[in-house]
Amino acid sequence: MVDPLEPLLVDGVIDEVVARLKSGKEADLWLVRQGQAVLAAKVYKARETRSFKNNSAYLEGRRTRNSRTQRAMDRGSKFGQAAAEEAWKTKEADALHALHAAGVRVPRPVLFYEGVLLMEVVLDASGHPAPRLIDAEVSRDQAAELYAVLRSQVVQMLCCDLVHGDLSAYNVLLGWEGPVIIDFPQVVGAAHNSQAEGFFFRDLANLRHYFEAIDPAIKGSAGDGREIWRAYTKRELTPDFVPAPPRPGAPPPPIDRRELPLAERPPPQQRPQQRTGQQQQRAAKPSRPPLGRPQQQRPQQQRPQRQPGRGGQQPRGPVVERRPVLGAQAAPMVAHAPQAGTPAEPGQGRKRRRRRRGSGGGSAPG
Ligand SMILES: Nc1ncnc2c1ncn2[C@@H]1O[C@H](COP(=O)(O)OP(=O)(O)OP(=O)(O)O)[C@@H](O)[C@H]1O
Ligand SMILES: [Mg+2]
Repeated sequence: MVDPLEPLLVDGVIDEVVARLKSGKEADLWLVRQGQAVLAAKVYKARETRSFKNNSAYLEGRRTRNSRTQRAMDRGSKFGQAAAEEAWKTKEADALHALHAAGVRVPRPVLFYEGVLLMEVVLDASGHPAPRLIDAEVSRDQAAELYAVLRSQVVQMLCCDLVHGDLSAYNVLLGWEGPVIIDFPQVVGAAHNSQAEGFFFRDLANLRHYFEAIDPAIKGSAGDGREIWRAYTKRELTPDFVPAPPRPGAPPPPIDRRELPLAERPPPQQRPQQRTGQQQQRAAKPSRPPLGRPQQQRPQQQRPQRQPGRGGQQPRGPVVERRPVLGAQAAPMVAHAPQAGTPAEPGQGRKRRRRRRGSGGGSAPG
């Protein structure tokens, strides 16, 4: 008996557990039968057993309507933690409802019940659960069109004020009608999360880099993120917004730091400083610091090298093994790199030396 699905069986929400489909970082996916329909049931893992636990960046801006619960969540009490966990699970169902209603290519949500999300099974052309984009065979001819379809989904999501936050070829299924985006628990509110812009650029960059590897001409779309985000911030973004196509033969637009996968972003403050001959001479011999301050040895400030995010580029996997819907068994999942994005250390400001006056600090009134 499958424990988390038992309440659904007992309550008659589902009629049968057919098979386990996949086991991911955050959830186990089951195929279940509800009447004549076979549905996907996403059973979220307990926080302790999830390999992705540091979700604080995604939680920013998420508030519950009940202020008492919100206070408990902010305090991190036991009740607050349980409420936060429940809210985390509910978020995916909420996002799927909003996005499906808006016409975004996501699985049709059916019900969120007892912490389990029931949704449509995305199928491939032969009626089997669809492969992830990373596992599918995408030809060079298909790449540009698939990229355009997915970019359009990202635009439509942004029109709903939502950013996926973990979008990559690992969270797109190649269904028989086209690509379908899945896995939304970390979705962020574009207008409520201060890091939404970064997540948005990373999402789009992850997709673009995947397709660039198949069709290098897609490098010409490097400015898409900037154009879309600019339209969003100017409140000019519409669901049918399409960034200007790259001019044939033109060099790819300069890459914005935000458009690079996190692993490739140069750490800021590493620009080599060009010194004049005079400056070099001065640097060679110790000189009096300005204003008579004692010379302070300032350690070279360097941000820690960031690792690829959850949606970072990863080696492409083999073509998915397709199994019949009934009797499907779990295939090992390719593990994502751990969430990084370690915040930069706060700068170490130079301590100001107070000039002491005769009054011993000058704070006492004369
Ligand atoms: N609606 C669906 N239809 C068909 N297959 C699905 C569906 N939803 C999820 N899957 C399959 O289950 C896998 C895991 O789902 P999901 O990505 O939502 O969970 P996860 O725990 O976040 O997994 P991961 O660690 O791979 O990100 C997907 O990669 C996909 O193969
Ligand atoms: Mg996933």
